[in-house]
Amino acid sequence: MKAIRIDHFGHEDTMHLEDVPRPTPKADELLVKVAAAGVNPVDYKIREGQYPAVKADALPLTLGREIAGTVVEVGSQVSAYKPGDKVFAMIGADGGYAEYARVKASNVDRIPSTMDAVTAAAIPLAALTAWQALYDQGQLQPNERVLIHGGSGGVGHFAIQFARVCGAEVFATGSKASLNFMKELGAHHVIDYKAGRFEDECPEVDLVIDLIGGETQKRSWDVLVDGGRLVSTLQAPDTSLPQAQGKRGLRFTVKPNGKQLHEIAALIVARQVKPYVHRTFELENAVEALHYLATEHVEGKIVLKVAS
Ligand SMILES: NC(=O)c1ccc[n+]([C@@H]2O[C@H](COP(=O)([O-])OP(=O)(O)OC[C@H]3O[C@@H](n4cnc5c(N)ncnc54)[C@H](OP(=O)(O)O)[C@@H]3O)[C@@H](O)[C@H]2O)c1
Repeated sequence: MKAIRIDHFGHEDTMHLEDVPRPTPKADELLVKVAAAGVNPVDYKIREGQYPAVKADALPLTLGREIAGTVVEVGSQVSAYKPGDKVFAMIGADGGYAEYARVKASNVDRIPSTMDAVTAAAIPLAALTAWQALYDQGQLQPNERVLIHGGSGGVGHFAIQFARVCGAEVFATGSKASLNFMKELGAHHVIDYKAGRFEDECPEVDLVIDLIGGETQKRSWDVLVDGGRLVSTLQAPDTSLPQAQGKRGLRFTVKPNGKQLHEIAALIVARQVKPYVHRTFELENAVEALHYLATEHVEGKIVLKVAS
C-alpha cells in the first residue's frame, strides 16, 4: 500500500510516499481501507521530533492520527464490526496517511449515513480534544462563561460549538479574519487577539480552554474567577504564579474514545454541530497539506483524500 512515511525527524523533506506492506490487525483491531485522513498540528510536531510521546525509536512511521474509511478485516475478538462497515476514528501515532490503517475497535464509531468520508475524517482528533477539554477536564456547566483561545482552528471550532450546545456563554479569540467565522459557529463574543489585549475585552470567566500556550496561557489567569479552571492542550499551566492562587490549571493529552465519538456524531447528525473542512489535498500532496496548516490561516480542518 502507499503511505506517507518518515524515517528520521526533520522538515518537509523527511516525508516520502512509499510502498509498504499493509498492517495486520491485532485481535481487538480492525483494518480499515482509508478514504480520507485528517491533518493536525500534531502531525508536523511528530515529524519534527517535537512531540514527546514519539521518540526516535518509534521510527520509521506513517504520519496521521485520524481516519475515515471502510472496514476490510476484523481481529478475532471483534464482533461489533464487519467488513464493509464505514467507520471513523482517532488512531495511534503511526498510520493515518496511508491506504490502509489498523485501529482498535473500541476507538471507532460508524460514519453516519448522511456524512461523507472527508467530513468524517475531519472530526475525531480535534472534536475529541474539544470534548475532553470542555467536559472531562474543564467540567463545563450550563450558564458558565468559557473563553476559548484559538477558536477558529481545528479544535477551537468544535469547542465553540460544543460549549454553545452545553448552554455556556462563549468568548473566543482569533485573528480578525476569523471573527465572523467564530460568530457563525455560535460564539457570543469574539476577540481579535492581534488588536489588543484579550484581558481588556473579556470579563471574568469560569473556564479557559487554552489552545495557544505561552503568554496567552499565562495572561489567562487574569480573566479567571476565583476557583476557575484553566485547561491547556499545550504546556502545563504554572500554578505557582500569584495570579493563579485559588484557581486550577492542567494540561492534558486527548485519548481516542469511540463512545464520545458516537455522542459527537449524534450532535452533528442533529445539525447542532457542524465540522468545517477548509481545504482538501490528495494523499501524495501531504507535504503541501502540512505546510498549509502550519503557515496559512485555516478555519476548521484540512483533510487528505486517500481513495474514492
Ligand atoms: N494535548 C493534546 O492532546 C492536543 C490535542 C489536539 C491539539 N493539540 C494542540 O493544540 C493546538 C491547537 O490545535 P488545533 O488543531 O486547533 O490547531 P490549528 O487548527 O492550527 O488552530 C490554531 C488556531 O489558533 C489561532 N491562533 C494563533 N495564535 C493565536 C493567538 N495568540 N490567540 C488566539 N488564536 C490564535 C489560529 O488562527 P489564525 O491563523 O487566524 O491566527 C488558528 O486558527 C496545537 O498546538 C495542537 O498541537 C493538543
